[in-house]
Order: sequence, then C-alpha cells, then structure tokens
Amino acid sequence: MSIATGPAAREEHPSGDYLRTRAAETSLWHSQANMAEVKNAETVFVSGDGAYLTDQHGARVLDTPASLWYANIGHGRREIADAVRDQLATLETYNTFQSCANVPALELADRIVAMAPIPNAKVYLSSGGSDAVDTAGKLAWRYWNVVGRPSKRTFITRSGGYHGLHVFGTSIVGLPAQGAGYGITSNAVHADPRDAGSLQRVIDEQGADTIAAFFCEPVMGAGGVIPASREYLSEVQETCRRNDILFIVDEVICGFGRTGHMFASDRFGLTPDMMTTAKGLTSGYLPLGATIIGERVWTPFWEDGSSERFAHGLTYSGHAASCRAALVNLDILEREKLVERVLALEPVLWNTLSPLGDHELVEDVRGNVGLLCGVDILTAELANEVVRRGYERGMFLRLTGDGRTLQISPPFVITEQEIARLGEVLVDVLDELAAER
Ligand SMILES: Cc1ncc(COP(=O)(O)O)c(C=O)c1O
Repeated sequence: MSIATGPAAREEHPSGDYLRTRAAETSLWHSQANMAEVKNAETVFVSGDGAYLTDQHGARVLDTPASLWYANIGHGRREIADAVRDQLATLETYNTFQSCANVPALELADRIVAMAPIPNAKVYLSSGGSDAVDTAGKLAWRYWNVVGRPSKRTFITRSGGYHGLHVFGTSIVGLPAQGAGYGITSNAVHADPRDAGSLQRVIDEQGADTIAAFFCEPVMGAGGVIPASREYLSEVQETCRRNDILFIVDEVICGFGRTGHMFASDRFGLTPDMMTTAKGLTSGYLPLGATIIGERVWTPFWEDGSSERFAHGLTYSGHAASCRAALVNLDILEREKLVERVLALEPVLWNTLSPLGDHELVEDVRGNVGLLCGVDILTAELANEVVRRGYERGMFLRLTGDGRTLQISPPFVITEQEIARLGEVLVDVLDELAAER
C-alpha cells in the first residue's frame, strides 16, 4: 500500500524541483506492486538519518522494517559515503573474471572468511541475495556433476520459504503466489517448515540420490517472520549429513548481526556447506551479495591439478565500491558493537510486542530472535489500516507474508525509547480500530 501522496515536495530539498514538476503518473515499475494502484500514489523518501526517514512532504518517520530488512547500521552514514567516494575516485572497480581482481574484493573475501561459521571457506561475491542464491544453486549442481553424481538435481525448500526471485529463486520458492503465473519448471519439492521430520520423509519419497541440497532460512522472512527452533535446525542439518545432501543456509536476512550473532548459524550452532548473504553485508549502502562456500564444495574446483571450472560470472562480482562499503559497514558494526546491541535489544523488542498477542485484532506475535518480530493482524484490510494510521503517528510500518504480518526488523541503532514508542503507537492504533468495529 502507499502512504504519502500529494502534490508538492519541500522546496528546500535537492530533489524538490524534480518532485514538484514530475508527471503525476510514475514511469517506475515498482516491485511486488499493483501498478494500477501505485502509479499515482507512491511513498517517496528523500533522506534518512539513523533509524529515521524523511518523506517528500517533510514527515519524519521511524523505519521499523529497516527498509527490506537491510538498513542495519542506520541511514545517513557519511563515513561510508566518503569511503565509497574515495574508492570511485581511485578505481571505480575492476572485474574479477579469470585472474583479475581489485583490492576491496580481496580484502572483503578474507574478512568474510575470517568471520564465517564455515571453516576454511571461500567466497563468491555478487550483487544481491538472489544472485547469491543463484550462485549457490548452480554451484550445488556443478559440484554433484564434478564428483560424478549428476542425478542429484532437485532442491528441497520449505513451504513458505523465500530465496529471491531470479528465475532460479522463483523455481524453488515455497510461496505459491511468487511462483505462479510464469510456467517456470520447478526445481524444488517442499518440506514442512515446522516439522524437522518432514525433511526425511520428503527425501525418502524422492530418493536421496536425486536431491542436490536443502535450502533453509533460519528465520523465514518474506514467509511471515517465522523463526525456526534450535532443535529444528540441528535436526535438519543432521538429516542432510545423513542423506549426503548439501545443507545451504540462506542468511540473506539473518547474516551480519540481525539475530544478535554475526550469523544465525553461529547462534544455532550450524556448519552449513554453503551460506547465502547480502542485505546486512553493506546495510544497503550499495548492492552486494556473498555466497560463502565450504571446503567440501570448493575442493574439486580449487585442488592442485584440477581442470574443473565454475563457468559462472557476473560483471559486477566483487564491485570495488560495494566491497569498500561493506568493509566500512563491518568496521561500524564492530566498532559500535551493534551485534551485541541487537542481542541486548532482543528482550526489549519482544517484551514490548509480545503482549499485543492478547489484543482482539492480533492473531499472533512471533520472533524473539534478535531484532526480528512478526505481528499478525486479523485481516489484510485492518493491517493496511494499521500501516496507514501508524504513519500518521510517525511509524513507517511494512507488511509481509500473506499481507497481514507487520514486519518489525528495525535498524540496529534503534533505541529502547523508540521501541517503547513503537509499542505505544501500535496499541493506540489497534485500540482505535477495535473501538470503531
Ligand atoms: C532469505 C532471502 N533470500 C534471498 C533474498 C533475495 O535477495 P535480493 O532481493 O537482494 O535479491 C531475500 C530477499 O528478501 C531473502 O529474504
């Protein structure tokens, strides 16, 4: 839904001229939008600072979803802008095809390897989460080919699972609405996300020698903020090992601190064969994805004498400016102890939002994993109204899942007072809506 509509932009803003004179109907095709509704009713943000955004009318709102779960260090960090400007002036980028490389890409790969819960890993850099997933999927196929087991082709994902929307991601998605209407051949069968035993049953039905890998989000994001338990995750990891299936943990949302640990795999004691990451790697300052690859998978391509090549390549793999942004982002995370802050704020967010579960207009509240929480409103219509009225009270809210779930995933710099204010606004809006029924 769109929130801020209206004619004039603030005069003093640099984008003001353009916003004042542009045509009423946008030329921009928005993601996941009904353009018939959105074409004349966009929500336009023009600047950000910390956990706040300012819209084209000058309203300042709290960014409760951190955009698409990525604005982790908060908006408006000049330190990153300066580092990126310096990099662009030195060498905008150089590709990483064949033997070429650039310094920020090399430095970032080393840094990720040193942090990752996968021992002795390698890193393939790309432009975002869907790229990282694409890379992991193709590499899983190549791996099984190279080791002489080409029948291992099918992926298992979870019902409700989301792994980006490139063609490969679309072919394994566990959200029917995202896969429908394309005629894309599915590459996946789905397991029950809440029942670890379901994975073994699916493997038994399909035959382990046909399965390449199991893709798993530690907390399902787009599916509606649904956390997996430690028990679930360790059991599915064990099931993958037992059946000789690659275990790929999709940390595009969770990676780089969102769960209060650098990776959800750290939090839950997992050692995946591959991990996919993006968003929090740069906190959105520039697009970047990273597929982190364990020794088993990389060995046949890297060992001395190997003639096997991963015939994969993206022009902007390891883009120097994006990698520089990531390096400074990681510096900030460490220097300001923001991951520790997420863990400290976890109970604050949970204690604020979980009581909403008793409200007559709320069906469920889930989360209690870092700064991740989902609040299910009874109907999509009411949920849209909560978003609209929240905005009027200074809260930018976003819906995910089936359109009834408030995605609460704020920047790590949010304060306890701002969390308290979020709770007050939600209670206020929900009470108001209940009184009107
Ligand atoms: C778990 C997960 N994987 C992959 C992706 C795709 O990332 P991107 O949108 O950067 O391509 C997303 C995006 O939200 C995601 O949540």
